[in-house]
Amino acid sequence: MTKSSSLSRREFLRMAGLGTGALVLAACGKALPAKATTPLPATALPLPDGSDVMIDLTAAPGTANLLPGQATRVWQYQGQLSQGAASSLQTIPDSYLGPILRLQHGQNLKLRFSNQVPDASIVHWHGLSVPDAMDGHPRFAIPQGQTYDYAYRILNRAGTYWYHPHPHGRTGPQAYYGLAGLLIVSDNDEAALGLPSGEFDLPLVIQDRSFDSQNQLVYVADTMNGFFGDQVVVNGQAQHTWKVQARPYRLRLLNGSNARIYKLAWDDDAPFTVIATDGGLLAKPVQRTYITLAPGERVELWADFSTYQPGQEVLLKSLPFSVSTGMMGGMMGSSSGLTNGAALDVLKIQVEPAAGGPFPGLPERLSAPGFYAEQDAVNRRNPRQVTLAMQMVGTLNGRTFVMDEVASDEKVRLGNLEIWEFYNSEGGGMGMMGGGHPHPMHIHNVQFQVLERQIDRQNRQEYEAISAGFVDDGWKDTVLVWPGERVQVLVRFENFAGLYLYHCHNLEHEDGGMMRNYRVES
Ligand code: C2O
Ligand code: CU
Ligand code: CU
Repeated sequence: MTKSSSLSRREFLRMAGLGTGALVLAACGKALPAKATTPLPATALPLPDGSDVMIDLTAAPGTANLLPGQATRVWQYQGQLSQGAASSLQTIPDSYLGPILRLQHGQNLKLRFSNQVPDASIVHWHGLSVPDAMDGHPRFAIPQGQTYDYAYRILNRAGTYWYHPHPHGRTGPQAYYGLAGLLIVSDNDEAALGLPSGEFDLPLVIQDRSFDSQNQLVYVADTMNGFFGDQVVVNGQAQHTWKVQARPYRLRLLNGSNARIYKLAWDDDAPFTVIATDGGLLAKPVQRTYITLAPGERVELWADFSTYQPGQEVLLKSLPFSVSTGMMGGMMGSSSGLTNGAALDVLKIQVEPAAGGPFPGLPERLSAPGFYAEQDAVNRRNPRQVTLAMQMVGTLNGRTFVMDEVASDEKVRLGNLEIWEFYNSEGGGMGMMGGGHPHPMHIHNVQFQVLERQIDRQNRQEYEAISAGFVDDGWKDTVLVWPGERVQVLVRFENFAGLYLYHCHNLEHEDGGMMRNYRVES
């Protein structure tokens, strides 16, 4: 379902304060660029007059019919397309999620964010490389009633990215009440593969929520553990049955939960065929018997339901696993819901007969991901260390977030390739002071490669029950760091100089201050 009307376009123009004569637009069905554009150097990012896609995105209170009976009060992003192909904006009916923005590599996006919720907010484009003023840093948060204008070019390769609020201290509750959406980028290399598309290319945004007896969302969270709900909501809909045809699908999974890690598996033990991670397609498909997906992470699956008979059902579930949060974590307890590692049903799938055919086959090779070489890292002998700890709130190298602060060890040079080592110092017998919390670490403005992981002896047993579900084979912007684990990533700071963030994507850890700036200097 897409929305595009001349009324909305007029409204946008009025709000944008533009005379109608200023823009002569071929409003809808504008041809997409024939050839994907190569990224421009950081110095110049001209937006041609009349950008390719123009969207008006409003965050506002609303309602959604999530459960039978009373409607649920939510906060929602609503989109209006005023320029570009109608397919650029796709709403999900009866969902609290924002519209799916479907953009092409090389396109220019102009987006006016209008904040109509009674709280300061700003939008961040998770996984995209954009100039720092476009990145949704909390210093740009605007109060209710104001607008923020975004204009940037899509430099990322094809992939499943997403957007969500980023005001300091308020990201967790705002995302929880419904402010989140997918941003899907496509490019010519991907299109040439002929992967399942249209209704066979399905997003699966996984979030946990708790409802009260009046069907209203309940948010109770502490900074040490974060929010845990008692049921899973998929695509902003608490409706767990999907009808699919007995044919191949492309499934794009996002863990959009605040704090919950999922250990995903089919109930008939069929393996997953993974074709992409956070930053797009892998070089070739890989198999997993289960997938460990932490908050902020994405994977894409090739799911061939033709292996099922029409009428069969298959359940996607989250398998139980254990996380010893240590003595403090245990004593403090967590929120109302089931804690991390609880067994949960995610989605029931009913297989129906396929229409048409023949169907696309799984390509043997997917992409040339263009990985970096470790020996080119400027600090290969001396990786940059980021130590994660929990002292009532999470810390990064002993520090918490300060709006404009950048420490001397948080500066990087534009163009440099570096190794960053995240070390989760929790666990390892420090139970008295903190216990061990897993931390999904995210760096803004980049995609990185996971170079190496090392787990200490104390945490090995719990780790081995989830680590076979990591997909480190492709580009990542978020990586789970288990208690007692060291994870090295290889990252290049390219495209833009400026002030960006790195943080834990457990949203309550982030809101508690487990976030820091880093500065890219030219
Ligand atoms: Cu989804 Cu600062 O991130
Ligand atoms: Cu991000
Ligand atoms: Cu954390």
